[in-house]
Order: sequence, then C-alpha cells, then structure tokens
Amino acid sequence: MSERFLLVKQSQPLQGFVEVTGAKNAVLVIIASLLLAEGKSTLYNVPNSADVRCFIALMMELGALVHFDIKQKILTIDTSTVNKIEVSPEIMNMMRASILVMGPLLARFGKARVALPGGCLIGARPINYHLQGFRRLNILLEENQPYLFASTNTSTSAPQHERIALEYPSVGATENLLMYATLKPGETVIVNAAIEPEVLDLIDILKKMGASISCEPGQVIRIVGVNHLKPVEHTIIPDRLEAGGLLLAACVTKGSVHLPNARADHMDIFLEKLREMGHEVYTGTNPTPTHPLQGVSLTACQNPRGINIKTGPYPGFPTDLQAPIMTAMALSKDVSTVEETVFENRLMHVKELTKLGAQITVEGQKATIRGVEKFYGTELIATDIRASCGLVLAGLVASGETKIGNIHHWERGYDKLEEKLRFMGAQISLINPDDEPTRQIEESLLSKRVA
Ligand code: UD1
Repeated sequence: MSERFLLVKQSQPLQGFVEVTGAKNAVLVIIASLLLAEGKSTLYNVPNSADVRCFIALMMELGALVHFDIKQKILTIDTSTVNKIEVSPEIMNMMRASILVMGPLLARFGKARVALPGGCLIGARPINYHLQGFRRLNILLEENQPYLFASTNTSTSAPQHERIALEYPSVGATENLLMYATLKPGETVIVNAAIEPEVLDLIDILKKMGASISCEPGQVIRIVGVNHLKPVEHTIIPDRLEAGGLLLAACVTKGSVHLPNARADHMDIFLEKLREMGHEVYTGTNPTPTHPLQGVSLTACQNPRGINIKTGPYPGFPTDLQAPIMTAMALSKDVSTVEETVFENRLMHVKELTKLGAQITVEGQKATIRGVEKFYGTELIATDIRASCGLVLAGLVASGETKIGNIHHWERGYDKLEEKLRFMGAQISLINPDDEPTRQIEESLLSKRVA
C-alpha cells in the first residue's frame, strides 16, 4: 500500500459559507444508545468519518442491520436483530469510544463482554470512573485479559436509589452510566456529571425514546428507570470542533467565513478567545444589520494578539480545540500560553509545529508560545485527531508545501474537512485517497440494508 498523506500548500485568505456536519462525538454515543430501543431508528446529519464507520461496524458485529446513505448523511439502524454481547478486541482497539456500548448492552441484556479500549495516544485514558460507577449500580465485573465481563447482579432486583459522584466530569463515564440507568429499576443520580453539548444531545435522544432524565443545577443528572424505550428519529447537533477548525482556518489565513448552522451557544469560551485575539465574531445571538444571519461568522484580524487558555471540562475551553488554536497563537504577536488540564499527554503537536518555525517551549502541561511571522513548509506527522487539524491549519500559511503523514487521525475525526477547506480556497489534497483501509468497512455496510 502506498503512503497516504495530506499535501497542503500556502493558501490565499480563505473565504466561504460552509455547512457544519454532525458532531462525531455525539453520533458515536448516540449510535450506541440505539441498542436501548429495540427496532429501527434513523439518525440525520451523520458524518462519514472513519470513527463513525468503525462504530457502525461494531453495531453490525453485534447483529444490528444498518443502512448508511452517505450522500444524504442518513443512518438507519435496526437493533431488533442484535443477538451478541461481545465486542472483539480488533474493533475495541481501533476506538476508545467502543466502551460506550457497555451501558446499553448491560441495560438490554444484563451482560456485556468487551476488550479494553484503544484510541488516540493522548494520555493513559483509563476507564476507572466507568467501572466504579457500574459497581455502584450493582454491576459485577470480572477481568480476564483482554476481556472485561460485566453482568447485572440478579440477587438484588428490587428498585434502588443510587447517587454516584464522579471524581471528574468524564464525558464517557457520564454517558455510559446514564445510558445504563435509563432502563434500570429505581432512580440514579449522577453528581459532577459532564455537561458537554454532546452529552446533552444524548440526553435529548434518550428522552425522545421515552427515558425519564432531568438535568439539575450543579451538574447533576437524575434518571428514573423506565421499562421500555422506543426507536426514534433524531438529527445530530452540528460539530463544534469542525466549526472551530473552520473558524481558525479563516483566522490564520486572514480571511472570513460564515457557518450558517454552527451553534454559537456550544462554543462560548472559544469564541470569546477568538475575539480576545482581535477577530470579529458575529453570532446568531448578537446579529447586527450587517451580519443578520444565524450561525457564526468571523472576519479575521490582520495582526492578532496573543492569548492565554486553560483547557477544562465544558463550559471550559475544549481540549479538542487546543491544538488547532495553538497554531493561531503561534502566528500572533506577543506571547501566548496554553495549559492542558484534561489529558496528560496532549502537547505532542508542539514538536511538529516547531519544525515549521514555531517558537514554543513546554514545561509539564504548560506551553509558552512566542508568535512568529512566518512558518516554513516541511514534513509533519499527525499525532492525534485534533493535532492533525492544527497541522493542516499551519500548512495553509507555511511557505511552500507541507506534507502531513499519519492522516488516519484526520480521517477518524473529520468527514472530508479537506474538501470544505478547498471550497474556501485552500490548496489541500489527500494523496492516495483510494488506499483508505476503512473504506472496506463502508462498502460492506452498503450491502447490509435494513429491510
Ligand atoms: C471525550 C471525547 C474526546 C474529548 C474528551 C474530553 C468522545 C468520543 N471523545 O472523550 O474527544 O477530548 O471527551 O472532552 O466523545 N478519565 C479517567 N478515568 C475514566 C475516564 C476518564 O481518568 O474512567 C480521564 C481521562 O484519562 C482524561 C479525562 O478523564 O484525562 C477526561 O476523559 P473523558 O471526559 O472521559 O473523555 P472521553 O469520554 O474519553
């Protein structure tokens, strides 16, 4: 197989009107949640990224019937045929999010057998909060490498009231426990729950299915178990991380962009930081006579200022936009700082950015960035999904050509974002696209249509 890479050339100021695709991080967990509602459900605005195809393959492995209309972004999944409770290590190793089937499988079948998950190398990424929570909900766990077998404790079937305080508002742990609790007799309260927009989208679809869930002040989610959930239709929220990448593409190339369906209310701190840099940001919530449209639009400042950010759980600055915004900081005047508090190994892109001429030093989890006027094109390696976005943004401004390898990360997280950038005027191409290994998964999908 020949090497696949992204070739990015120094580009003119990007301009455009671009629709944002459905959020990858919402759709993965929402696909898992369909296991809770036996029957045929339909999802709209589904991105065709490699992680989504991988999750679809997982559902097929469990026995679901799937049809993915890639052009229309419509995914139909019939979970009435699901007859397995085991996820193979091959699938689990491809994607950490596979652990999210544990809650729904336990809720529906009372048992689940999963291998320990893989994913990006951005930290140790344990699943102890998921497991502690499941134990509190009376789940028995047996580890037999590489598998973890989980089952409901049948000796105590009376409805129970459980209050679980998460040590950290983990997105995945909140989602997994929440899904399990929807069909568990009794009441479950999750304290210090994650409240990312993707978690709220999950809650939205679960409520449509008939779940009883309320979100209370102080990041508390209360779930009262019901007997049955029904299949539904649901439109996935727009991807705030893709939107962030597109806005930053306009920033670094000193262009302008309008994202008609982006949700400004999902990106408050990020948009504030762009304004602090000096960029003009307009949102549907503060329309002006010259910018009356819905969504988010941005006109870049020609000489942006440095800023300081500290990543954190929502509504804090999203760790997934840390690498992309660092590229913009590295091209601003003055000094900027980044403190990464969510993942302990998420500054790997710094080494790549310095190859282009960026001036960045790292001490522990903190990066200090001295803005430079120019980047110089060279060969780079993408180290995780969001780092790949930061490097693409850098390539758009670097003189000459930038070649980015390890692009399976890019394809895991984005649905042909390079085409959207090209539409805005970027010189970017995917070299050897037909060798994409996950395309095979896509083809096999189309042959298994839902009746
Ligand atoms: C999700 C997102 C990911 C995003 C992250 C934080 C998906 C598919 N992925 O990942 O893009 O970067 O939220 O917004 O939605 N942790 C533990 N023990 C656990 C669980 C987590 O120590 O049991 C730690 C992790 O190692 C990490 C931190 O908690 O340092 C946050 O992880 P978590 O919020 O669970 O992220 P994910 O759900 O994996």
